Amino acid sequence: MQSLTAPIYIIGAGGIVNAAHLPAYAIAGYDVQGIYDIDSAKAKATAHTFSLPHVFESVEEMLAQAPVNAVFDVAVPGSQIIPVLQQLPQGAAVLLQKPMGENYNEAKQILALSESRKMTVAINFQLRYAPYILAAKDLINKDCLGTLNDIEINVNVYTPWHLWNFLLASPRVEILYHSIHYIDLIRNLLGNPQTVYAKTTRHPAMPQLASVRSNIIMDYGDMVRANILTNHCHHYGGLKQQSYIKLEGSKGAIIIYFGALINYPRGVADRFEYILLDDGATPQWRTMNIEGSWFPHAFIGSMEQVLMAAAGLVNKPDNAAEDCIHTMACLEAAYISSAQGGIRPDSL
Ligand SMILES: NC(=O)c1ccc[n+]([C@@H]2O[C@H](COP(=O)([O-])OP(=O)(O)OC[C@H]3O[C@@H](n4cnc5c(N)ncnc54)[C@H](O)[C@@H]3O)[C@@H](O)[C@H]2O)c1
Repeated sequence: MQSLTAPIYIIGAGGIVNAAHLPAYAIAGYDVQGIYDIDSAKAKATAHTFSLPHVFESVEEMLAQAPVNAVFDVAVPGSQIIPVLQQLPQGAAVLLQKPMGENYNEAKQILALSESRKMTVAINFQLRYAPYILAAKDLINKDCLGTLNDIEINVNVYTPWHLWNFLLASPRVEILYHSIHYIDLIRNLLGNPQTVYAKTTRHPAMPQLASVRSNIIMDYGDMVRANILTNHCHHYGGLKQQSYIKLEGSKGAIIIYFGALINYPRGVADRFEYILLDDGATPQWRTMNIEGSWFPHAFIGSMEQVLMAAAGLVNKPDNAAEDCIHTMACLEAAYISSAQGGIRPDSL
């Protein structure tokens, strides 16, 4: 888009910036002007790979060069988000990597900081902008599906959690680092749920980790079902691994088989299938070809929102902290629900 020319300054030169942020911005033609990481070798290597013009040795040095219309893209571990945000200028436009802090309390601190400093802060819950989700939203917005009444996200894969050392010390794993994307997506499609029920479970083969499998029910009342089911511990080969997002409405349905998690990190191709009852007497399931995938293309959308806000084209990003705080509230509710447990049949 012609007007999305604000210069981007990145803080953090880790895995996700290299694998998704910068490849996405290259596709979109966004203007990345510089990068800073506490590990300056990583910042230099990233700048070299993506031909970024400037590497900074400190946040202060970055701020001295960044113009007033700069957009800051922060992709540091969750524990570092608040200290980094505190260093950014009053009124700045900022995209923060998810999660929005490590729990709901931190999310509230981030929101308060953003409001008191009059910043535009958005959160990188990017599944909302994955090309297959944009295609689904297009069908929904054209009323092809009718009223949505069923969402099921079902993941049965083997996730090599050991690749992320920091998870060993984390009191929360699956919902905070993974299912949070699905919670955010369901909120993005259906709004805030009335309540959240969950049971999140550890795995005997990974006793050193907190819970790695989750069942989450987002409760939208009697007529709408929204369920997330994840098992990341299916170590029986690729054949029966699956991951899909199914949306059902009153007159159409979509199933998105998303491949990024299968045989991770290799992945397999996505598949977008849909059926519309208005299609005729015997509606058929059809396949839609979708350009791009979750990684890296969805990352274009979350930055696009911040650039549009910075350009005055929208009042607030769609993924503003003011909206994403509700995703964090659902996350917290899920952990509380899981800890409280269900109803004991033997108590009745
Ligand atoms: N789909 C997604 O949205 C997605 C996927 C992966 C990771 N993430 C999130 O992105 C964040 C980073 O993940 P990653 O995989 O890139 O981790 P990583 O460990 O590879 O990179 C983090 C980088 O931040 C740097 N860093 C740490 N503290 C800093 C500070 N105060 N100032 C500047 N740099 C600092 C580190 O040196 C490191 O290079 C995490 O919060 C993670 O949850 C999101």
